[in-house]
Amino acid sequence: MALFPPEKRLWWNEPLHRIEIVWITIAFLWGVAMFSIMVYWHFVGSQNLSNEAYRVDPQAYAKKAEVMTEKYKVREEGQTGIPVVHPPAGSDVYLIARLWEWWPILELEKDKSYRLHLSSMDWLHGFSLQPVNINIQVHPNYEMVLTVKPDRAGTYSIVCNEFCGIGHHTMLGRLYVVEK
Ligand code: CUA
Repeated sequence: MALFPPEKRLWWNEPLHRIEIVWITIAFLWGVAMFSIMVYWHFVGSQNLSNEAYRVDPQAYAKKAEVMTEKYKVREEGQTGIPVVHPPAGSDVYLIARLWEWWPILELEKDKSYRLHLSSMDWLHGFSLQPVNINIQVHPNYEMVLTVKPDRAGTYSIVCNEFCGIGHHTMLGRLYVVEK
């Protein structure tokens, strides 16, 4: 019980038991190993997206996404009314995160490179592209730019992975990669 201080006030000055020092050493070395792996993986893991970020006004960002959508809309997604947009290969493409949707649905071409812009209209959201598991935070007032080159055709899901309120679990989007 820790209600009263230990009788021997200099309890911390006792010599360490051998087992104790062994465990402290193991824990310390494990900590050093895990820390080194973070640094190592930064260089070797090829999972660090090269990115740029700019301050942006949400309305100004929405405008850019709307202009792109207006110009390159090819159809609507089922009954949802969400536009599917097929921008030209190599162009700047914009994705809006907001309560609680990803807008619009982008259709990209396989093996073509794009500058993918991400920003939020309201709160913090998380862009998680599945099943490839690319994750990036999407902040309001910041525009993140990723250079992406999809190498597999298919239908991808975008899941919001930052808790953003009551509709968080419904914040699902889609991204198509098509063979040209
Ligand atoms: Cu958006 Cu959770």
